[in-house]
Amino acid sequence: MSAWPVRLTTDLGPQSPGSRVTLRPLAYRDSLSWRNARQRNAAWLIPWDATVPPGGDARPTTFRTLVWRLHRQARRGTTYPFAVEVDGRFAGQVTVNNVVRGSAQFASIGYWLDQEFAGRGVMPRAVAMVIDHCFGAARLHRIEIAIRPENSNSLRVVEKLGIREIGYAPKFLHIDGDWRDHRLYAITREECPEGLLARLTAGIDHGESHESHE
Ligand SMILES: CC(C)(COP(=O)(O)OP(=O)(O)OC[C@H]1O[C@@H](n2cnc3c(N)ncnc32)[C@H](O)[C@@H]1OP(=O)(O)O)[C@@H](O)C(=O)NCCC(=O)NCCS
Repeated sequence: MSAWPVRLTTDLGPQSPGSRVTLRPLAYRDSLSWRNARQRNAAWLIPWDATVPPGGDARPTTFRTLVWRLHRQARRGTTYPFAVEVDGRFAGQVTVNNVVRGSAQFASIGYWLDQEFAGRGVMPRAVAMVIDHCFGAARLHRIEIAIRPENSNSLRVVEKLGIREIGYAPKFLHIDGDWRDHRLYAITREECPEGLLARLTAGIDHGESHESHE
């Protein structure tokens, strides 16, 4: 089984009976939905969005440039850029970044969701599926998630997943126009032998999931 491209899907359980969340490679055809979502959700996303530090290339990134760059990184195996769909509608992104092989077998994960889909447990399930995939087909060993201390919604995601806090990184990333402190969370393969989605859903419902290749 190869790590990329891949399609991951599961039901949303009792929070949204009959609904499904699906992850698949971000594609050029997402352009309109992506731009609409980013526009409608500007105020919701800006406090958590990465920005360009002083001296960097401040030209605005178009969606095409973003996808081109992510696809190139995906071909090199350093990034897995997922689009999140809820019942077939574009709902956000989960990106596996900074894949390091060798003796590290490490990656970090970032995510955002259209506010219209917030509060239904979409992102905990999406991140659980992605981490299971990272520890499975992608054969990674450790996944890290960095969250601003003010981001209570995102802190709930790692809390629901039982991902351990491992430290505090002052001025870690350039977010919303300045260097921002982050709380660091990490999980290793040994910590969830049963799978993170199974662990998450065991406490909530009996949701089934499966993965297939595009
Ligand atoms: C963080 C984020 C991905 C969470 O996704 P989600 O699928 O809504 O996650 P959950 O459904 O588990 O909700 C998490 C918390 O958000 C809050 N929340 C719930 N519904 C909400 C809504 N409609 N609007 C705003 N916040 C809501 C609740 O505090 C919830 O915790 P609870 O379930 O204990 O009540 C989403 O809030 C988001 O995209 N935020 C903006 C971008 C961002 O912060 N990215 C992460 C950077 S580290």
